[in-house]
Amino acid sequence: MSRTVYVNGNFVAEEQATVSVFDRGFLFADAVYEVTSVIDGKLLDNAGHLARLHRSLGELNIKPPATDDEIVRVQQELVRRNSLDEGSVYLQVSRGVADRDFGYAADMTPTLVMFTQQKSLRNPPQAEKGIAVISVPDIRWQRRDIKTVGLLAQCLAKQQAVDAGVADAWMVEDGVVTEGSSNNAFIVDADGNIITRHLGNKILHGITRASVIALLESDNRQLHERAFTLEEACAAREAFVTSATTFVWPVVEIDGHTIGDGKPGPLATRLREIYIETALARA
Ligand code: PDD
Repeated sequence: MSRTVYVNGNFVAEEQATVSVFDRGFLFADAVYEVTSVIDGKLLDNAGHLARLHRSLGELNIKPPATDDEIVRVQQELVRRNSLDEGSVYLQVSRGVADRDFGYAADMTPTLVMFTQQKSLRNPPQAEKGIAVISVPDIRWQRRDIKTVGLLAQCLAKQQAVDAGVADAWMVEDGVVTEGSSNNAFIVDADGNIITRHLGNKILHGITRASVIALLESDNRQLHERAFTLEEACAAREAFVTSATTFVWPVVEIDGHTIGDGKPGPLATRLREIYIETALARA
């Protein structure tokens, strides 16, 4: 069955949904995006995603295409029209359409596209069994805190992982892990210290990361926000990733090294449960 998608004010069948070849999102990856997960038809952590959307737009001087209320109404309408029970709503804002030129006018009309994707989020095998990852060099630009659609480095990293028979890649720069191809990386060392990369322009400021950190804080668990090496990761007692589409997935193997006993660790398992529970209760 054809999905209904949203393009610049219109709900249309996906076959009819088009954007100009002169759109700067297409020509220059001059566009930002957000992915909000959906369970039981509810948008999880959506306020955080919209707040980050504004930050990304602001950093690139792209005009907001609509108010937050309007965006939420479209998200909910897409969920409704596509009978989406579990999956995600993707939202993309590009600077707009203009003849190809590196420079751009200040008053461009942004392009707004949204669509849904059906996906099993609550009980995928990756959550139950954990995932294996490989490390790859982080070859991205210096503003990874802006959620742009310039994702080619991450696509190559992910495909390298898939070709190697594993689920994902952790990107490494200057000897330390930045993040996963589309998720934030956490480890628990042999002493039980929970460690994740500090914020800055080297990683995306994950909304799920922030929610998971809030859960750790409310449980009086200390978190160390610092860079960690690949060696520390391989020697970790536990490892996991966070994102809107995975929530918390345990990592049980890094570059062929078994993490802990090779099974999902207790912290990742617990965080996953309480993240889903609390995010649903807030939604
Ligand atoms: N990716 N780091 C990167 C590089 C990401 O692409 C993502 C999300 C995250 C996690 O952020 P959040 O918790 O806000 O989803 C971290 C989305 C899911 C994607 O590109 O599909």
